[in-house]
Order: sequence, then structure tokens, then C-alpha cells
Amino acid sequence: MNTVWMTVAAYLVGSISFAVVMSSLFGIADPRTYGSKNPGATNVLRSGNKKAAIMTLIGDGAKGWLAVWLAIRYADLLQVGDMTIALVAIAVFLGHLWPIFFRFVGGKGVATALGVLLGLNPWLGLATLATWLVVAFAFRYSSLAALIAALFAPFYYGLLFGVEPQLFAVVAMSVLLAYRHSQNISNLLAGKESRIGGKSAGAA
Ligand code: G3P
Repeated sequence: MNTVWMTVAAYLVGSISFAVVMSSLFGIADPRTYGSKNPGATNVLRSGNKKAAIMTLIGDGAKGWLAVWLAIRYADLLQVGDMTIALVAIAVFLGHLWPIFFRFVGGKGVATALGVLLGLNPWLGLATLATWLVVAFAFRYSSLAALIAALFAPFYYGLLFGVEPQLFAVVAMSVLLAYRHSQNISNLLAGKESRIGGKSAGAA
């Protein structure tokens, strides 16, 4: 029974779109109306408001981290195991992608996935973040950095912990993240993807 409410709670927490919330708090346009139209930190940055973008990144990351951290912290007390932790991880991510509070129109999951990975294990999160940073600094494409980091994350998990339920949650997140970046992949292949900090996005 605990598994059910924990998974539902994680989905609800994931459904809070910090891109929309922060844009409203900072008095800037709804990110679903400009740039790539994605409610995420990269697109909020296109508004020119760096503080709103950073707060979006922190908020979307923190919700993923918190859900997983709490599940692990209270696993013994609530008598749940690895399977529940894996379900909580995927549920908070799914909430971000298809949020119940925003007509199921959510983001691409990069910040939330990073938060989930940090919650599962700090080294896992840091290795994935380092991968993102290397690619982002080298090519200045947020989407390409996210796609390559997502490709590496399951390998990092496997190397650190082997095959366990959480690995399947990480694989599922990576697959869904890549799926949500289909337009970015097309843009990258066509040379139309906007670079980090660019005001407009080729993704429409
Ligand atoms: O955070 C999502 C990023 O990887 C791509 O965002 O707005 O350029 O489609 P965007």
C-alpha cells in the first residue's frame, strides 16, 4: 500500500512545472509561448531572465531529488524496497513530462532526471552532470548535452551498482528523455538547433 501512495505522491510533485511557476513569479512570459515552447530551464533562459532560468533548474531538479531522497530515507520505516524507489524515481519524472496540473503538457525532463540521479546516488548524479557540462561547453547545445548524458547515465548506474530495479528506472528515463527531444534531434541533424543562451529556438 505504501508503494501506491508514494508513487502517486511522486507523480504529483513531479507535476509542478517550475518553468511556469517561476516565470509567473518573475513576471515574464509563459515559456510555453516562445522559443522551443518547452517549459524548461533552457527555454526560460531564452527570455533573457537568468535568475528565472536558474530557479527553474533548481526547482525542477530539487523535486526529482527530494522525491527519491525521501523514498530512500524512509524505505525501512515504510517497509518498501528497491522496486518502490525505482517506481518513485520514474513517477516524479513522468509527472514532469506529463503534469496533471498543466493539462499533461510538460517538459523534456533534463533537470528532473538530474535531480533523480542525484537522489539515487550523488556520484551517479555528479558523473552525469559532468558529462552534460563537458558536452555543453564543447558544443553549446543543451539538448545534445542532455542526450549524451542520458546515454551515459545507465552505464554509470550499472558500473556503480549493477543490475537492480533502479537501473530500469534510469533506462526508462533516458529513453523517455530522448523521445521528448525528437524535435531537437531533427534540428541538430538539420543544423537548426539553437545554442545555449540563444534567444530563439529552431524547435517549434
Ligand atoms: O532542457 C531541455 C533541453 O535539453 C532542450 O530544451 O528548449 O532547447 O528544446 P529546448
